[in-house]
Amino acid sequence: MKVSGKHFRTIWRKPDDERVVQLIDQRFLPYRFVIEEARTVDEMATAIREMHVRGAGLIGASAGYGMYLAALQAGSRDSFEKDMSRAAAQLRATRPTAVNLSWAIERQLQKIAAGKTADEKIELARRMADLIADRDAEHCRMIGQHGLALIRKIAETKRNKAVNVLTHCNAGWLAFVDYGSATAPIYAGHDSGLPLHVWVTETRPRNQGSKLTAWELGEHSVPHTVIADSAAGHLMQRGEVDLVIVGTDRTTYTGDVANKIGTYLKALAAKANDVPFYVALPSSSIDWKMRDGLKEIPIEQRDAKEITNADGWFDGQHIAVRIAPDESPAANYGFDVTPRHLVTGLITERGVCEANEKSICSAFPECAP
Ligand code: MRU
Repeated sequence: MKVSGKHFRTIWRKPDDERVVQLIDQRFLPYRFVIEEARTVDEMATAIREMHVRGAGLIGASAGYGMYLAALQAGSRDSFEKDMSRAAAQLRATRPTAVNLSWAIERQLQKIAAGKTADEKIELARRMADLIADRDAEHCRMIGQHGLALIRKIAETKRNKAVNVLTHCNAGWLAFVDYGSATAPIYAGHDSGLPLHVWVTETRPRNQGSKLTAWELGEHSVPHTVIADSAAGHLMQRGEVDLVIVGTDRTTYTGDVANKIGTYLKALAAKANDVPFYVALPSSSIDWKMRDGLKEIPIEQRDAKEITNADGWFDGQHIAVRIAPDESPAANYGFDVTPRHLVTGLITERGVCEANEKSICSAFPECAP
């Protein structure tokens, strides 16, 4: 998508150096646009763990490139296979909730195993990393087309008034390789001339909504308003939200949706106010082994400082200030699970399906357990 009018993806191989992967370092947005270079699997693991890159699809693509960098480092050493399984374990341990991470690593391990020589394995890893990134972008583009049909239907009932979409966190192009999942229908609608307005929840504690989603919508000239997380229910009660579209970090094949903390409350408010609640996801975010999202999906717990402090930019400096009393302990749950019965539909690259086993498995029969 666009940054100052120029097209960017979130991650790519450096054009004049095959051994380097470039990525947008999101820690500095929206105030500085920084491109980082990763040369080793250690650097890529740090980028994922420390959230230079984040969001389900991008975590998967970064892991794919991390495995490619690991293959380059392993070179023609006798310990190639051992090095690659160490790299896989290292990348797997970076973040627990987004299933795209292990999905991409598994794809790489399978592909690399088919190579006979080290050079062949490196070449296969390079091609697979590119394929994972290209597919992610293409699937998000298709999600945009399927989601656009839903928005169009709502627009028909609004007599040229803007369709109000509410989204949470950042399931935008910054969370994927391009387009985003929840934002893809929004960009498609905006580009086709539909009047749209987006409510962007700030998404405490890391503020992916106010820092990232607001920034990318602004770069694309999409009308939007940042709101406190707790304002979503109030707006729904007043008829100010036509539909909710969120992303997901892992959805079970039965339709339970893990997403950024606070998503469940939005789904409850949407149900209580008859607002359609959609989840946009590429199939790489479906966990084909997990049946019960509430019991089985691992929920990341992060540093309590993200809760006790707030951070931002002051006079060109990134600063953090303490909000909570020094003595107060804090707990920082990164994600929650929205049970399937609160989800109106899943917008996938193959179309919209219901959040249940039958519908998901008939959309992706080749993956069904
Ligand atoms: O902790 P993050 O920023 O990596 O969390 C991921 C998210 O941005 C959200 O949960 C998002 O809605 C789903 S990722 C497409």
